Amino acid sequence: MKVIMVAVSSINGKITRGLDPNIYSWTSKEDTKFFFSLIKKHSLIVMGSKTYETVRKVIKHEKDKLRIVLTREPKKYSEEAKKGMLEFTNENPSKLIKKMESRGYKKLLIVGGGTINTLFLKSKLVNEIYLTFEPKIFGSGKNLIKEENLDITLKLISAKKLNRQGTTLLKYRVSKMKGYDI
Ligand SMILES: NC(=O)c1ccc[n+]([C@@H]2O[C@H](COP(=O)([O-])OP(=O)(O)OC[C@H]3O[C@@H](n4cnc5c(N)ncnc54)[C@H](OP(=O)(O)O)[C@@H]3O)[C@@H](O)[C@H]2O)c1
Repeated sequence: MKVIMVAVSSINGKITRGLDPNIYSWTSKEDTKFFFSLIKKHSLIVMGSKTYETVRKVIKHEKDKLRIVLTREPKKYSEEAKKGMLEFTNENPSKLIKKMESRGYKKLLIVGGGTINTLFLKSKLVNEIYLTFEPKIFGSGKNLIKEENLDITLKLISAKKLNRQGTTLLKYRVSKMKGYDI
């Protein structure tokens, strides 16, 4: 399974502006366009329950797109689940990936938030990262990656300026991942 992570961040690594869960209040239309083009290309999308709760009202469910929501309490969401389109699980990343491989999926797109990004990175299962930097600095907000003992080396594959303001889309390949002692 090829595992791809995507996020948009301030230049200091915040994926939300303060307590506002709506990222579209500060992200650029160019990044939004890129994000949705990526969603279109992937038939397996994984997110954490906190992210799901911010987007659940606007998700358009389609037959050939499976969204998996990670939660420790999948039962809480049983009435919302739609087999093959919206599923809730508390499986760990490697088990989930194996299961999805057996269902025929070859690519998985992780769309956040920071908790789930960290969970997959810690599991050493991420192959590529798309990261958009909006030219902004936020003094508070949620982090792209949580504080954990991670030591990951990436290789920059491409860098593209998306607009005049300087929104920049970076594509990385993960080359080395290890844990370290703090
Ligand atoms: N800028 C961006 O690119 C971007 C992208 C996505 C989201 N966001 C923003 O990020 C915020 C959410 O981020 P977040 O870090 O708070 O939350 P999150 O990563 O979306 O979800 C966290 C939740 O995942 C579940 N979870 C965590 N570890 C798990 C495990 N080992 N097994 C199963 N489930 C597990 C838990 O759900 P339960 O509590 O249900 O057990 C936990 O509360 C939102 O405000 C959203 O708007 C920004």
